[in-house]
Amino acid sequence: MALKITVIGTGYLGATHAAAMAELGFEVLGLDIVPEKIEMLAGGRVPMYEPGLEELLAAHVAGLPGSTGRLRFTTSWEEVGAFGDVHFVCVNTPQKHGEYACDMSYVDAAVESLAPHLTRPALVVGKSTVPVGSADRLAARLAELAPAGTAVELAWNPEFLREGFAVQDTLHPDRIVVGVRSEQAEKTLREVYATPLAEGSPFVVTDFPTAELVKTAANSFLATKISFINAMAEVCEAAGGDVVKLAEAIGHDERIGAKFLRAGIGFGGGCLPKDIRAFMARAGELGADQALTFLREVDSINMRRRGHMVELAREAVGGSFLGKRVAVLGATFKPDSDDVRDSPALNVAGQIHLQGGQVTVYDPKGMANARQVFPTLAYADSAMAAVEGADVVLHLTEWREFRDLDPAALGKAVTDRLILDGRNALDAELWRAAGWTYRAMGRPKA
Ligand code: UDX
Repeated sequence: MALKITVIGTGYLGATHAAAMAELGFEVLGLDIVPEKIEMLAGGRVPMYEPGLEELLAAHVAGLPGSTGRLRFTTSWEEVGAFGDVHFVCVNTPQKHGEYACDMSYVDAAVESLAPHLTRPALVVGKSTVPVGSADRLAARLAELAPAGTAVELAWNPEFLREGFAVQDTLHPDRIVVGVRSEQAEKTLREVYATPLAEGSPFVVTDFPTAELVKTAANSFLATKISFINAMAEVCEAAGGDVVKLAEAIGHDERIGAKFLRAGIGFGGGCLPKDIRAFMARAGELGADQALTFLREVDSINMRRRGHMVELAREAVGGSFLGKRVAVLGATFKPDSDDVRDSPALNVAGQIHLQGGQVTVYDPKGMANARQVFPTLAYADSAMAAVEGADVVLHLTEWREFRDLDPAALGKAVTDRLILDGRNALDAELWRAAGWTYRAMGRPKA
C-alpha cells in the first residue's frame, strides 16, 4: 500500500512540498493552523506568489475540475494523525524578536499538537531549518507524547528550495539529505523519494545533528560567498576596479564557481540572514562560538551594503535628500517572489524616507506586502509612474521587467537621468546610450 503523507505548515515550503508529493502520486493531507490559508489552498489558490505553484496545486487539489483529487487540506490534528504514515513538519522558524536565536515555538507546537494523535506507526519528518540538537529533543518529546510509543519515529530531512524556484527545486532537488536513527526510517524515506523525484539526486544518509547542520552550513556558505564578493566590491570602489569583471574572472575557476557572486545591496529574505544569526547563537550555546565569528563579519558586510547604497544615492542628489524625489524599483528581497522579509530594497527605501527623501516604490509582485510593512512610503502602479519627476532612480531588485525597461522612454519622465543599479543587473551601455548617468556598486563611474 502506498504511503499516505501529511504536510504540517503550508507556507512556501509546506505548500510546495504538499503539491510535489501529490504530483509524485501520493495521497496528501496538508494542515495549517490558519483557517484562511487552508480555505485558499483548498480552492487551489496560493497565499503567496510562487511561479508554477498554483498550476501544480490545481492539478491535484480535491474537488477542482480535472484534478487528481490526491491533495486535501484540513485544520484538524485528529484527521492528520489518523491519515498519515509520514508527517512532514514544514512550519517556519523565524528569528526571535530582538535576539539572534531561532524561535522554535512553531516547530515545538506542531510536534506537541500532532503527537497525541499518533495512535499507529508513523514517521515524523522535520523539514524546518532548526538549531542543531533540536531533532534529539523533539524525538524525546514524541516518545513521551505519542500513544503509539516506539512505533512513532522521528527523522530530519532539510529542504534547500529557493523562493521563486520552489517547484523546480522540490521536484528536481540537487540532493536529498536524511538524518535517521533506524533502517526502517531510511527505508520509508527512500520510498517517499523514489523516482522520478530522486532520479539522479544524490541521497545522503546521516545522523540527526549532521542533517540539521547541513542546512545551516549550506546557507552560511552561500551568505559568505555573497558577502565575499560584496567585500571585493568595496575594495574595487576604493581602488577603481570593476567587481563584475572580477566576479566573472574568478568564477571561471571551477573550485570557486560563477554562481552567487553578484555584488550589490546584499542578501535578505526569510532564510540567509536569520539562519546565519541562529547558527552563531547555537554555536555559542555549544561553546563553539569561535568557529563562527566570521559569520558576524559576513552579516556586517551584508548590512553595510544597504547603508552604502543610501550614501551613494545621497551623494548623487547633491548631499541631502531634502526636497528630492527618489524612485525605487523593487521592494522584494529577490525577483520572482512577493516576499519582503528583511528585504534590502525596502530597507534602503525606508532609510531614504527617514532621511527626508520623497520615495516612490514600485515592485511587480511585492506591493501588497511592502505596503503592509512600510505603509508610510509612496507606491506607484508601474515603473513609469514611480520615476515621474525623480531626481534619482534606484534599481534595487533585479526583476526581468526592469531589465526590459526602455531607458529612453523613462528618461522623458524623470527630472534627472540618474540611475543607481543596486544589483549590477542592468545593461549599463543601454542606459548610457539613452543619456543616463548609470552607476553601480563596485564599478568605475565611467
Ligand atoms: C536561500 C537558499 O538559496 C536556499 O537553498 C534555502 O533553502 C533558503 O535560503 P532564498 O532565500 O529563496 O534561498 O534566496 P536566494 O536565491 O538564496 O537569495 C538570497 C538573497 O541573496 C537574495 O536577497 C538575493 O538577492 C541575494 N543574492 C543572491 C545576492 O545578493 N547575490 C547573489 O549572487 C545571489
